Amino acid sequence: MSDLSGRTTIVVGASRGLGRGIATAFAEAGAPVVAVARTAAALAELATTTTTTVGTIQPEVADAGDATVAADLLDRYEPEVVILVAGAGPHMRPLHQQTWETFSVNWHTDVRIAFHWLREALLAPLRPGTRVVVVSSGAAINRNGSPLSGGYAGAKATQRFITGYARDESRRAGLDITVTAVMPTMTPYGDVGRRGIRAYAGRSGQSDEEYLKELGDLLTPEIAGSALVDLVRADPATTAPEYLLTAAGLQNLP
Ligand SMILES: NC(=O)c1ccc[n+]([C@@H]2O[C@H](COP(=O)([O-])OP(=O)(O)OC[C@H]3O[C@@H](n4cnc5c(N)ncnc54)[C@H](OP(=O)(O)O)[C@@H]3O)[C@@H](O)[C@H]2O)c1
Repeated sequence: MSDLSGRTTIVVGASRGLGRGIATAFAEAGAPVVAVARTAAALAELATTTTTTVGTIQPEVADAGDATVAADLLDRYEPEVVILVAGAGPHMRPLHQQTWETFSVNWHTDVRIAFHWLREALLAPLRPGTRVVVVSSGAAINRNGSPLSGGYAGAKATQRFITGYARDESRRAGLDITVTAVMPTMTPYGDVGRRGIRAYAGRSGQSDEEYLKELGDLLTPEIAGSALVDLVRADPATTAPEYLLTAAGLQNLP
């Protein structure tokens, strides 16, 4: 996988934020990228503004949580790399100000997408050597979760768990599909992080700028893109099953 040219890469959740940076980095590394999201205009803009002479970006407007979309796109494109970044913006409120519907929004988007796509990757099955990366969150391994974002931390922890389940099923069936979980730290360069920063800054009586300063160096979509390209290019025998993703790139879990 050290050469990505000709390696079809599906990025689910590519229209903005971290996913956009990841899709762009894979195209720049020479991959034919299939960029999946629901917003046609944003995908079209991504495809026309990504000026690379090597890879390409093919927009696919779809709801990745729809039960038939994963099977359809995996069947149609036969990707060698699948990256699941899509997720919903959590409703930022303390627990007692959530409703069940707002509390569970990330279960119905993030977990649902990971469930359908991992399941279809194993059922198809994708060809041996395929790499699947699931973008969970640092909140999944935070001892206190994420108290202002309802079910977000639990949903991202479940994404991490089912990524492990899929890794194990691939190994048991001898499929040679490498499944990796990546857990980014909070960053304002995506809508999910912007919501969190606003809410936690407000709770601690700080401005967004003051709160951001305390976060230190920030993860950007470009750093996320280059870290995932390096991950997929590496020999799977040398990679860990899961990583934190920070401004310094992929880090082994503590
Ligand atoms: N930003 C952070 O600080 C941070 C930290 C840790 C983890 N994460 C995780 O990283 C991922 C990206 O975060 P972000 O902040 O970059 O988010 P973002 O800016 O809100 O982007 C989310 C992307 O997912 C797509 N998407 C959402 N629902 C979809 C669906 N049903 N079908 C297809 N595409 C869908 C969106 O496109 P459409 O709306 O056009 O469909 C968009 O491209 C999320 O899983 C998030 O939980 C983010």
